[in-house]
Amino acid sequence: MRLVTDGTLGDRDARHIGRATDQSPCRLAILARVGAPTSVDRRLVEHVDRLAAEHPPIPLGSVDYTVRRPGLLRERYGHVLDYMARVELEVDRNVLELTTLLPDPPEVDRYFYADVWHPQETHHGLILDRLQVELGRPPATPNLDSISLKLRILGGLAHLPSFQDVVRMLYYLTGMATERSAVIAYNLLHDGVSELSETGIAETVVAPIKRQEPGHYAFYQLSARGLRGELAGWQHWLARRMRSVSFAPVGANNATQAADFGDVMTTLGMSDRIDDWAAKVARVETELLWARDRGLAVPAYVVRAFREALERAVARPARDFGPSSHVR
Ligand SMILES: [Fe+2]
Ligand SMILES: [Fe+2]
Repeated sequence: MRLVTDGTLGDRDARHIGRATDQSPCRLAILARVGAPTSVDRRLVEHVDRLAAEHPPIPLGSVDYTVRRPGLLRERYGHVLDYMARVELEVDRNVLELTTLLPDPPEVDRYFYADVWHPQETHHGLILDRLQVELGRPPATPNLDSISLKLRILGGLAHLPSFQDVVRMLYYLTGMATERSAVIAYNLLHDGVSELSETGIAETVVAPIKRQEPGHYAFYQLSARGLRGELAGWQHWLARRMRSVSFAPVGANNATQAADFGDVMTTLGMSDRIDDWAAKVARVETELLWARDRGLAVPAYVVRAFREALERAVARPARDFGPSSHVR
């Protein structure tokens, strides 16, 4: 897919406001490229078609950035907006990671991430970043193109088809946890912004974004369920092992970002019920990977990662979120 820009935007916007110059592939064209489509393939293509038709990227001109009390909104939720904007904008790097990790992905995966997911998430990031700048904060500093050595090694191994299926499972599990976290966080942010009577922001920024996340979650869930039945015992075992040692909260790629995530959890009111939130984030993962361990509410590595993020936030020197902040 070739991207073009309208030439009227700054550097960052120009990079992100890509639009497909090719016609969007229709269901039949995608299915024709799938060797022998299964019922899961058909459902996935239908799902992505529906997302493409019903959820175009949020028009940037549709947002009302009018804020009644910018200082209060900035103090309370500025760091949350920054975290979300960064993670959303990092989809550029995520696509590079995907092309590294999945040298030969199913057609429907490519259709989803290139034609639907990337443009939608990019607009989420641009809108949230513009909002924080409107509030007087510096723009987010996303890592757009630096892929870790670990992922490059995994991508090398994924040239073996049976190993690529393990990596695909990890990709779908990560996608589920990420999108579920996004749904939860945007719901809480919507409530919080509404309580501040910032109606324009709640209705034209947070609500349209949160409406687009469940469709992403559904794509990964359907994909993971379909793939689960195809994995051999050793692939399932390996997926469990690799997931256990690699799980991290969304967007937390180092200690500082983990602490930032801890602060976001606290501000959104998630820190008192970590086990509950972890169970919500990993519900289907628990079922698909750990069904044998009956009674397991949530894998320990998920709860541990959330707890550690919170501990890192508490341990670092207090950050000034302003007198009205919910944080500490
Ligand atoms: Fe998003
Ligand atoms: Fe999403």
